[in-house]
Amino acid sequence: MIAAESYSLQDEIIAAATVLREGGVVAFPTETVYGLGAEISNSSAVRRVFEIKKRPADHPLIVHFADASRLNHWAREVPEQALRLAELLWPGPLTLILPRSRHVPANVTGGQDTVGLRVPDHPVALALLHELGPERAVAAPSANRFGRISPTTAAHVKAELGDAVDMILDGGPCRIGLESTIVGFEGKSPVILRPGTIPMEELAEILGETLVLPPPMARTVRVPGALASHYAPATPLELWRSELLWQRALELEADGWRVAVVTWSPKNWSQRGGAKNKNVVHFSMPAEPVSYGRQLYASLRQLDSERLDRLLVEIPPAGSAWAAIADRLRRASGTPSEELQSGAGIALQAR
Ligand code: TXA
Ligand code: MG
Repeated sequence: MIAAESYSLQDEIIAAATVLREGGVVAFPTETVYGLGAEISNSSAVRRVFEIKKRPADHPLIVHFADASRLNHWAREVPEQALRLAELLWPGPLTLILPRSRHVPANVTGGQDTVGLRVPDHPVALALLHELGPERAVAAPSANRFGRISPTTAAHVKAELGDAVDMILDGGPCRIGLESTIVGFEGKSPVILRPGTIPMEELAEILGETLVLPPPMARTVRVPGALASHYAPATPLELWRSELLWQRALELEADGWRVAVVTWSPKNWSQRGGAKNKNVVHFSMPAEPVSYGRQLYASLRQLDSERLDRLLVEIPPAGSAWAAIADRLRRASGTPSEELQSGAGIALQAR
């Protein structure tokens, strides 16, 4: 049974490689989220990826390839620290922003001179990239519409993009569920441009830099709607500290709103006076960041389908293990970018 299934998956991978070679667009699984792939030398396929996502053309794509030792084929300069990260963390949920080589067309990088590079740690993604061969690579943003939540199952991709893509490779639910950590280099200094699930302490250790942890989320309310949000559900989302969460729910409920209260802390929420109220749904998330991260996007999609008026989300705990989750929730709530920067501000300082 297992052998038969893996044979048919193998056939699908070979078919997907053919679709990519012929200029098609294929959604495929990675360990983080599903990607929407085009072979990078095919400019019309790359253009279609932007069109399907409704993504602005100056917003760069990440280039995926299979063999970490070929980093210098895709990047024209590789700082010592980037090389160390690649050697130790690839395949894995890490994207390096480096000067692009002549093998990476400018339309893939939104005209930038740098390129995001990643070797994903997923057997289906790696098999697909190997099948394409060492001279080819796949540009793949997350397989969702611009600004929306990334898909973590093939069914999410199908529901959101449906027939717009030529093929969807189903590799099951994503193991990590949050997008890769992005590390760039400003001059010689490494900068974490997007926190992911690689522990910050591990990055600091490999880079030989001191880690400066972000301050805990201090603000209590996010007013949705006014600001451009990203990684966002369709239902407006607000972030609240535990003490104020249920109070806010009851306030909105009194105005006739239907809300979900999304918690992680193992308090007895049913004693908060809302449990019997059918207009206040309680949605419990894991109190541990790996499981929370894996479930976050699927949970937000599920809550979206209930067509509530608001999602009230308990601010996650402080600390580096929650940094990626805090970052995505902040963006989902439409927090101004300067706050994003200071809040998510995972700075690395030279020792
Ligand atoms: O986990 C992931 O990284 C997933 C999977 C599919 O690999 N991909 C992903 O791609 O999240 P996307 O396009 O949704 O997000 C890529 C982010 C964007 O915010 C983009 O601005 C940034 O990476 N990025 C890509 N290339 C860049 C560059 N040359 N300079 C600065 N930022 C870049
Ligand atoms: Mg994305």
